[in-house]
Amino acid sequence: MEARHKRCFSQWQSHYQKCQQAIFKAAEQCLQKRTIVIMGAGSLNDIPLDSLSQQFQTVVLVDLVFLKQARKTAAIYPNVFLEEADVSCRLSMLFKGELSLENETSWSLPNETDCLVSLNLATQLPLIPVRWLMQYYDLDETAADELGKAMIQAHLDLLESFQGTRCLIADRQVFEYNVSGELIDQFDPAWEVVLPDVTDSWEWQVIPLGESKQNTAQVNQVGVSIW
Ligand SMILES: C[S@@+](CC[C@H](N)C(=O)[O-])C[C@H]1O[C@@H](n2cnc3c(N)ncnc32)[C@H](O)[C@@H]1O
Repeated sequence: MEARHKRCFSQWQSHYQKCQQAIFKAAEQCLQKRTIVIMGAGSLNDIPLDSLSQQFQTVVLVDLVFLKQARKTAAIYPNVFLEEADVSCRLSMLFKGELSLENETSWSLPNETDCLVSLNLATQLPLIPVRWLMQYYDLDETAADELGKAMIQAHLDLLESFQGTRCLIADRQVFEYNVSGELIDQFDPAWEVVLPDVTDSWEWQVIPLGESKQNTAQVNQVGVSIW
């Protein structure tokens, strides 16, 4: 993602700015500003860190893994903490081919969280696990579909059960174009799980022409829900 961000700077930067604005709006709606938790923080490029670290007592950024640049950026702020965790709480079971719906790890929200953000993460959650299970455990299409839906729904349930301000930034539709600019495919990246209504949305040119081996372009319709 870092490499593609450098190559496609203008197309990606406007998406990152819009994500930052959405998080800023969610923060404005918080009655108290003790802790904000951002799931799917990744590169941190789509997070208004300066502003959040001034507004909140504590900023907790969660992802499976943080690379060196993200660690360097976070280290600038004394109240910004990185937490490496699986927010689906299912990956170690799925890795072993176990599809049980039981959560096996205990990642949980810090106490005193006033704002919970899911950042370009919801539709990504099932992708690698499903591919892994299909490749190594012969997961069939029907079971893959069920698992994909269940992982996204469980993530939504996590947001729904949270009592403070919730912000979901996620792909709502994916479009693929050929070299002549004709639409050749489109699909719902949320596996038909119904996401909350959007308050803002934009198009993100994730893969401009020339970036993919197939010489196709991908545009994601990204939507924001704050509730
Ligand atoms: C599309 S990226 C967005 C990252 C970041 N917001 C950015 O644009 O740089 C999705 C992020 O979700 C993280 N992720 C995927 N599955 C996860 C899980 N089960 N728990 C925590 N993070 C996860 C990935 O590591 C990745 O950084």
